[in-house]
Amino acid sequence: MKKLLLAAVAAGCMSLAEAQHTKDVSLPLPDKNRGVSVMKALSQRMSVRECAQKDLSLSDLSDVLWAANGVNRPDEGRRTAPSALNKQDIDVYVFTDEAVYLYDYAHHALKHCVDGDWRQLLAGPPSPARAQDFVKAFPVILLFVSDMERFGMSGERVKLMAAMDAGIVSQNVSLFCAATGLCTVPRASMDADGIRKLLKLSDSQLPLMNNPVGYPKE
Ligand SMILES: Cc1cc2nc3c(=O)[nH]c(=O)nc-3n(C[C@H](O)[C@H](O)[C@H](O)COP(=O)(O)O)c2cc1C
Repeated sequence: MKKLLLAAVAAGCMSLAEAQHTKDVSLPLPDKNRGVSVMKALSQRMSVRECAQKDLSLSDLSDVLWAANGVNRPDEGRRTAPSALNKQDIDVYVFTDEAVYLYDYAHHALKHCVDGDWRQLLAGPPSPARAQDFVKAFPVILLFVSDMERFGMSGERVKLMAAMDAGIVSQNVSLFCAATGLCTVPRASMDADGIRKLLKLSDSQLPLMNNPVGYPKE
């Protein structure tokens, strides 16, 4: 069975029977009391491109996803990241060494998309000269995709709003990592065509940024 499913069983988020019948992963509730002050997190925020060879724990994955773009006002369905016109256009995909998942923010869970280690698609465009292979050493890479169809209009302005929305989600991740001792770097480099093909994205879905997430090297 996959590592994340086993971790979810061990954490009591799923029964063994459930885990045997699905590839989707239930996440533990986010811990909203962790982390240093906002000012300290801002003091500590920086791009880090090297990490320890260690899997991200299920609780850290749960917390970073909620910080990125989880639901923080359940009554209204609003999110930790603002979005232009509250269109909530940014979807968060989770790339691990075993599979790719979509963050199901409504249920705070992972929906399985495809098996396999596809992290090399985030290293950069296919040209080896431009690839940033360091990302493949990170246990998890979060990819931010805007579904511009949710804006109900098209044009350059919509693309700008999509890019701004992705940037805010990325900054949530950077600040969470700075506050909790994890490491990350916001990135625009990726093989966008390869990602589109892998995830069967529609023309309106735009992969915009990604954040590898891991633990600092000792
Ligand atoms: C929109 C955006 C795209 C970026 N793309 C990449 C990237 O593809 N690869 C990378 O290594 N860093 C990338 N960065 C990180 C910047 O290089 C980094 O933020 C900058 O050098 C300042 O360093 P600091 O984050 O430690 O302050 C990107 C940052 C932003 C805001």
